[in-house]
Amino acid sequence: MQTENNCIVIFGASGDLTHRKLIPALYNLYKIGRLSEHFSVLGVARTNLDDTAFREKMREALIKNENAEGETLDKFCEHLYYQAINTADAVDYVKLVPRLDELHDKYQTCGNTLYYMSTPPSLYGVIPECLAAHGLNTEEFGWKRIIVEKPFGYDIKTAQALDVQIHRFFEEHQIYRIDHYLGKETVQNLLVLRFSNGLFEPLWNRNFVDYVEITGAEALGVEQRGGYYDGSGAMRDMVQNHLLQVLAMVAMEPPAIINANSMRDEVAKVLHCLHPLTDEELKHNLVLGQYIAGEVNGEMQKAYTEETGVPADSTTETYLALRCEIDNWRWAGVPFYIRTGKRLPTRVTEIVIHFKTTPHPVFSQNAPENKLIIRIQPDESISMRFGLKKPGAGFEAKEVSMDFRYSDLSSASNLLTAYERLLLDAMKGDATLFARTDAVHACWKFVQPILDYKAANGRVYEYEAGTWGPKEADKLIAREGRVWRKPSGQMKKKV
Ligand code: BG6
Repeated sequence: MQTENNCIVIFGASGDLTHRKLIPALYNLYKIGRLSEHFSVLGVARTNLDDTAFREKMREALIKNENAEGETLDKFCEHLYYQAINTADAVDYVKLVPRLDELHDKYQTCGNTLYYMSTPPSLYGVIPECLAAHGLNTEEFGWKRIIVEKPFGYDIKTAQALDVQIHRFFEEHQIYRIDHYLGKETVQNLLVLRFSNGLFEPLWNRNFVDYVEITGAEALGVEQRGGYYDGSGAMRDMVQNHLLQVLAMVAMEPPAIINANSMRDEVAKVLHCLHPLTDEELKHNLVLGQYIAGEVNGEMQKAYTEETGVPADSTTETYLALRCEIDNWRWAGVPFYIRTGKRLPTRVTEIVIHFKTTPHPVFSQNAPENKLIIRIQPDESISMRFGLKKPGAGFEAKEVSMDFRYSDLSSASNLLTAYERLLLDAMKGDATLFARTDAVHACWKFVQPILDYKAANGRVYEYEAGTWGPKEADKLIAREGRVWRKPSGQMKKKV
């Protein structure tokens, strides 16, 4: 199904995200016929460009990153426009009014407009107000939706203030808080795996699950984003949003129906059940780390404090391991271990559900664990591990696996990327995969005491780049007789 005719206004159009993710996503949607022919993209930023220069810039990026070419590329670029304004100045938005009128007329959009705030977060509160000053937020003629990029606030107070600011001019049904993890096919597949099979759900609870690991590992460092990252750290950058959303997908109750409200009711409910960690609990359940120089994939990498934009005495965490629990009937007492870090040995995001062992070990004291490994990236897959008889004499059990890989599906090459899926959903008015205000608040409510604890007493341990984080993180999980899984980047033969 194609989208309705509409105009997409990208604020921050001269920035990185626009040419790296947004324009490529729109281009690919256009190429596969998912966009209406009647769409336009209006790039907005301070940089002085005209339509031709903007088109040329985007064209170059598409050729470089998407191997775009030929007629499709030419035609797509004809839909791109640009308007320079001072995005922080409401008066300047007057320039947008005739530009948008013209585009709405030309593309017969009935006024349907999707605003994308791909700007520094300091503008997230300002842009809605400036749009409203010119009546560009009202839905009298066509829908008006606004996409907010993370971070949704810096802490609980600023998150609440931001919410109030945006809500002054846009209603909740118009606000789309994008978390690109929710756009990932395998994250969505978690819901299908859980709720369309009778096999897993009866086991998916405290009676059968021993513990859950959620890992978001990256081999990359902070690249050119040292300035941003240093004010953020792993907790705000990865946990508060992406990994807690993933946790919600693992732990939520089945929604009554699959629609935006039903789904997001369940997500918010489970996030509200996260056990609030006290300072005393955090002493044992939180480990923060920062990478020092080391070798990753055979290449020497510098320390975090030597990265561009990072102060030499920074105590920002580039690694975090956390043990948390969910206080509800399904999960009471089941530890969820979350870890994430930069400059770890490989890039891998995965969830491991560790099931309890048999009540009585008939065949062997060391029977393999039953576990389900859900690989979100790379090499999206699901692997079930269990014990079978080792060939030969006796009854010794050995671990075997049953693996499903997304790439084996003939339709796998048609998978939409996260931004493609989410932009398409926003244009269709489907907010199911966007974070709702109550869920964002629940995440902050859980995260804030951890940030406060870190600010007051949190020690940040060193770890060598290319290792799996500080050894204190191993102790955190070892206290309960467990070890972190050490996944390799590719789930080919053995992981
Ligand atoms: C972003 C973070 O939101 O997610 C980055 O700001 C991180 O620091 C990235 O690298 C990870 O996303 P992905 O899709 O590569 O796992």
